[in-house]
Amino acid sequence: MAEIIDITANKEQAIEAACKVLGEGLPIAIPTETVYGLAADATNPAAIARIYETKGRPQFNPLICHMADLAMAEQYADFDPVSRTLAEAFWPGPLTIVVPLKGGSAIHALATAGLDTVGIRVPKGFAGELIRAFGHPLAAPSANTSGKISATSADHVAADLGEKIRLILDSGASDVGVESTIVKVEDGKLRLLRPGGLPAVEIERVAGMKLVRPKKASAAIEAPGMMASHYAPGAHVRLDATDVSDSEALISFGPAPVAGSQSARIVLNLSETGDLSEAAANLFDYMKRADASGATTIAFSAIPDEGLGEAINDRLRRAAAPRE
Ligand code: TXA
Ligand code: MG
Repeated sequence: MAEIIDITANKEQAIEAACKVLGEGLPIAIPTETVYGLAADATNPAAIARIYETKGRPQFNPLICHMADLAMAEQYADFDPVSRTLAEAFWPGPLTIVVPLKGGSAIHALATAGLDTVGIRVPKGFAGELIRAFGHPLAAPSANTSGKISATSADHVAADLGEKIRLILDSGASDVGVESTIVKVEDGKLRLLRPGGLPAVEIERVAGMKLVRPKKASAAIEAPGMMASHYAPGAHVRLDATDVSDSEALISFGPAPVAGSQSARIVLNLSETGDLSEAAANLFDYMKRADASGATTIAFSAIPDEGLGEAINDRLRRAAAPRE
């Protein structure tokens, strides 16, 4: 079973233990403000291979490479003016920017799936400090078995991957609760590859241009690795529910009552007041709890598609998609 270190009580010890395991080329679970990551040295192919092995990923998808700051990122990749403006405005934070790799960049091709671009993010708080101490970028997908719901607490990670990894760093529940927003500048356009923890409108305001969204059907091609059926709980998922039956779990949103709630397996409200950031932070934990209730189906109330609602609805559509 993995050792779990509480970083709020033992930060120095956590950084020392983490650098040691990372230096041996093994992945560890680290907290970030979005979700927990399964992190390994992005310059070490054996270490990256162990991420795929631990997650049981069916294929090599490009991984996000996490940096301590923009200066570190610029050692590995080239930033056009728009990407640089976004980095300066939103890092550290829940934004991943896809940029061209520098020739001879030390990031290994296994982390980028052989692409000539790399998705880079500077995480907030502890993860950034760890990367600075370690000195190499960390490739890190979410710390969960491939296709399952992302982990937003050390307990989630321990239950899923605890037997497969040596170390889990614990900083409690993730603040944001959904993965980072991913953007890419291409042919003078700013593309949204994945909605996420930074609302699209905030990016548009700083960039001074509109985000180009993928056509829903081609999303998998725009952002390789974003399979339609993803973030899947064991139970079926039903969206835009206005009622719930006694074999179902209900995950509601806002103050409106839902018919049949009194006999549902379990009723959880993402945010009683209709606050989308509170809803994002609760999303994956509530999906796991609803799944554990033994319900055949998890019914979700409709969630507005604005701000963080875009990322929440993206994850729910994937959870509801036909399973592969
Ligand atoms: O919040 C997050 O982003 C979390 C935490 C741990 O930082 N990480 C995360 O990583 O969600 P992951 O591996 O699950 O997401 C990687 C996705 C890929 O599936 C792909 O869609 C996109 O990022 N991506 C990465 N590099 C890319 C590239 N060069 N071009 C296009 N898409 C890329
Ligand atoms: Mg993931």
